[in-house]
Amino acid sequence: MRHFTYRTLSELQQEADRIGARHVQFEEDPERIKSILARPVQVGGMRVGNSIAIHPMEGCDGTPDGLPDELTFRRYERFGSGGAKLIWFEATAIREDGRANPRQLWLHEKSLPAIARLLETALNAHREAYGSADDVLAPVQLTHSGRYSVPRRIIAHHNPVVDAKTNVAADHPVISDDELERIEDDFVEAARLASRAGFRAIDLKVTHGYLLSELLGARLREGRYGGSLENRTRMIRNVFGKVRAALGKEMMLCMRLGCYEGVPYQSDPATGVGVPLPYPAPYPYGFGNQADDPLTEDLAEVRQAVGWFREWGLELLNVSLGVPYFNPHVGRPFEKPDEGNYEPPEHPLLGVDRHFRIAGELQRAFPDIPIVGTGYSWLQVFAINAAARNIADGNIRFYGAGRNALAYPWFARDALEKGAFDGRQVCRTVTFCTYLMRQKHHPWGQYPTGCPPYDKEVYGPIIKQARQR
Ligand SMILES: Cc1cc2nc3c(=O)[nH]c(=O)nc-3n(C[C@H](O)[C@H](O)[C@H](O)COP(=O)(O)O)c2cc1C
Ligand code: SF4
Repeated sequence: MRHFTYRTLSELQQEADRIGARHVQFEEDPERIKSILARPVQVGGMRVGNSIAIHPMEGCDGTPDGLPDELTFRRYERFGSGGAKLIWFEATAIREDGRANPRQLWLHEKSLPAIARLLETALNAHREAYGSADDVLAPVQLTHSGRYSVPRRIIAHHNPVVDAKTNVAADHPVISDDELERIEDDFVEAARLASRAGFRAIDLKVTHGYLLSELLGARLREGRYGGSLENRTRMIRNVFGKVRAALGKEMMLCMRLGCYEGVPYQSDPATGVGVPLPYPAPYPYGFGNQADDPLTEDLAEVRQAVGWFREWGLELLNVSLGVPYFNPHVGRPFEKPDEGNYEPPEHPLLGVDRHFRIAGELQRAFPDIPIVGTGYSWLQVFAINAAARNIADGNIRFYGAGRNALAYPWFARDALEKGAFDGRQVCRTVTFCTYLMRQKHHPWGQYPTGCPPYDKEVYGPIIKQARQR
């Protein structure tokens, strides 16, 4: 079903009001939009040049050894010249068996020079366009894909509903405490490599169902990493502590945190619309879920955990939601699902509203930690109006663009120069990028992804080939 039919901001605002998406508000004046988005943001000891971020966006286009390849360099060149001052480098595995796909970037001794060149490519493109990159912050997202690692899944605990959705047998072994401790050291080693590659900030990926976020929901796990919130956050505390000990305050600590996980969905065979898989109540899994009603968030533990992360050194927080493998409408509200996936079970504006509500609540609870907001792309040209309003109202410090950065890498330049987006270039959330991400029948086991509708020259032939195969 098509939802996005709004020609004007007031039509969209009326719809938001009608359905109760009350956190979706807009700034109308392009001059104010320009000045709000141009505001520098203080992050730890650094003044970041404006309030616009590009989210971590994987292209699944590395080499089998985890090095960036031609399309990876192209993407970061475009991101660098686009005008955003916070350029968040995509999910980069800390070890080979922690990759979510066989072309995911992977930091190791041999990939280090190429990953260093990738960073330089983005910064040089920025310097060429704007004279200097001194006010650009570029964290690299360090990840272990846990349950979604290929070829071998690594499970932090069993959640029968997620196990059913991801085809994991009830007797699949759970990773031991000792192995988790070794993985902590792999994170620290990757942070060292990142530092040698020139990164001044690392991000721990604690979202989207990957290892560190699965641990946050491991209430029924026994041992040092399960049960209490102290135990479930132990790995993060240890990694932050060890990175600080190894690299000092020179390395900024950032996090992408899944602040509400939700439950797995499947397609209703009669309607094609998403419905939750049957789940037990209370639901003792996930993070940020209300136990009695996991379709709704409960941020009590999230606030407690973020307070600890701040004590352990966190300086920048990127708020994300949901798990793309089992409830993609939560993380990235969309107009059209990737082929074969379910139609959204809620109006996408309610998904946008959930993002704004949760980020706003956390930003107000932690005014000293700048928060990067997510979930704007569905708003198309009006994303910029919502972003400016959320910044002006103190709901976020950075507007983060995910899919829109693939479709329209120069969105930030237009935002800053015109206070408006170009309607011919914005992402329409029609999800071909995710379709490509899910295509594995490539000789390297993974198709590269990008934006076929708006970056046609490169990704048009790629999607055609993926379909033919
Ligand atoms: C193709 C693609 C690649 C992505 N790669 C990453 C990633 O590497 N790390 C991450 O945390 N999120 C990743 N995401 C999620 C986005 O960063 C973002 O949270 C999501 O698209 C919602 O924001 P949007 O509405 O602006 O698109 C990816 C999403 C897509 C569609
Ligand atoms: S394929 Fe392009 S237009 Fe479609 S959701 Fe992805 S970035 Fe947006």
